Amino acid sequence: MVALNNTSSVRGLSPIDQSLFALIAQDIEKRGFSIRPAALPEVLTSSLFEHQQLIEADKFKHAGIGRGDTYLKNEFVRTDEICWVTNDSQAGRDWLDWISHLQRFLNRRLYLGLFSFESHFSHYGPGDYYKRHYDAFRGEANRVISIVAYFNSGWTQADGGELVIYKDDDDKDGINVVPLLGTLVAFLSEEFPHEVLSTKRDRYSIAGWFRVNTSVTVKADPPL
Ligand code: OGA
Ligand code: MN
Repeated sequence: MVALNNTSSVRGLSPIDQSLFALIAQDIEKRGFSIRPAALPEVLTSSLFEHQQLIEADKFKHAGIGRGDTYLKNEFVRTDEICWVTNDSQAGRDWLDWISHLQRFLNRRLYLGLFSFESHFSHYGPGDYYKRHYDAFRGEANRVISIVAYFNSGWTQADGGELVIYKDDDDKDGINVVPLLGTLVAFLSEEFPHEVLSTKRDRYSIAGWFRVNTSVTVKADPPL
């Protein structure tokens, strides 16, 4: 096994903060979720935010539920716009690089067998929301851990747009997360229903998912 190098750094960024990854792993092990303000390296948050601002409006698509043939635009459930993160930009590469360090750490610490990662930028304009949902369904999907990162400076509760994470289907109160610049959220995808409350300001974030490999001989998933 390759040792995680304590001083390894993402190009142009400060050394990877292993103590942060340890806290995230500990949170997930204890409670199934982790909410960490000021977690993302500042250089990374600002380059992702700037990149997101530069993506042309026509690259953002109204978010749908499901993929491929099952794609279904459903305004009742969500009204945000998304654009998948790729390796084509420096910001995208730096994000995926940072995430790969987190992936390796979680696999070593929690034996999760995380195999791949997919993520998209999200933009919620004033009035946009994402109703209560799960990111994965037990025994069906292979999304194991959901990750959300925020790029909104000076956000307060009055701006709305909070992420609310519920313990289970019966939980009415939930835990509110202000989508403030640098905050990172991680949670077990099958365990926690969650929603995004209607926002009053433009709200920028990345949502992503670590997947396990469910490939069988006849079907490769995620697609090769
Ligand atoms: C999602 C999601 C939460 C957020 O995209 O599936 O739940 O706070 N996003 O943006
Ligand atoms: Mn979600």
